[in-house]
Amino acid sequence: MSVARIPDVAGHEGLTEYEEYLQREWLLFARDAARQAEALRGLEALECRSVLDVGTGAGQEMIPFAARGATCVGIDISLESGIFGSRLFTRHYPDLPAHFATATAEDLPFRAAAFDLVLCRVTIPYTDNRTALAEMSRVLRPGGVLLLKTHHPRYYTRKFVDGIRKRSPRFSIHALRVLLSGTILHLTGWQPSPGLLLRESFLTEGRLKKELARAGLAIAGTLPDSNPLTPSYRVVKTA
Ligand SMILES: C[S@@+](CC[C@H](N)C(=O)[O-])C[C@H]1O[C@@H](n2cnc3c(N)ncnc32)[C@H](O)[C@@H]1O
Repeated sequence: MSVARIPDVAGHEGLTEYEEYLQREWLLFARDAARQAEALRGLEALECRSVLDVGTGAGQEMIPFAARGATCVGIDISLESGIFGSRLFTRHYPDLPAHFATATAEDLPFRAAAFDLVLCRVTIPYTDNRTALAEMSRVLRPGGVLLLKTHHPRYYTRKFVDGIRKRSPRFSIHALRVLLSGTILHLTGWQPSPGLLLRESFLTEGRLKKELARAGLAIAGTLPDSNPLTPSYRVVKTA
């Protein structure tokens, strides 16, 4: 697989703002051999024939695994992102075994223990955390690995400050609402449904550990792309 041959498609017309975002993220990852190699680090011992990407967007995180022959399935609540991801794979990597389906993290349409590896990159903040983690654990086979990227509260405090600096109250108000919803979740265990408060939430490491334990999962390490705002973890199935 060559990452260098991917053409620059900047300036393509007719894309929605969301498609532009998906395409930008996809191309950044597809062109970056170092990031792809990083994604595989620590997984050398894992027999990885089936991969599920939860909240896949356009599915770029599946590229390094599909390139090594694993059958990859990306699910997303958004139909649009799957269609767009399929187009990108068809255009750039027509032979890679990557597939898309529309589904929610809280109700994964797969049998138990179907996957060797589950990816979930900055999707957990938008889900019902407990149900989504239980579902990911269910579809992961014993000995399987979950690569999970979350939003720490610092992500939203940074967003709040950025909103003020850039005079963009919309960002700051959104960040405040998430900080409030997340605080309620952390204090009471109750995650608001979408409404005045938001379902979107941060996760502290302490809370994450509790929720993972409840789902029969545990943190085994951090990933190379982990940072204080969006920590990433290698999670293993314990039960
Ligand atoms: C920040 S994007 C991350 C996309 C991709 N994982 C990446 O790293 O580029 C979050 C994704 O989660 C999806 N999403 C939000 N809520 C979801 C849910 N309950 N179930 C499945 N996908 C969801 C969104 O449609 C969006 O594509």
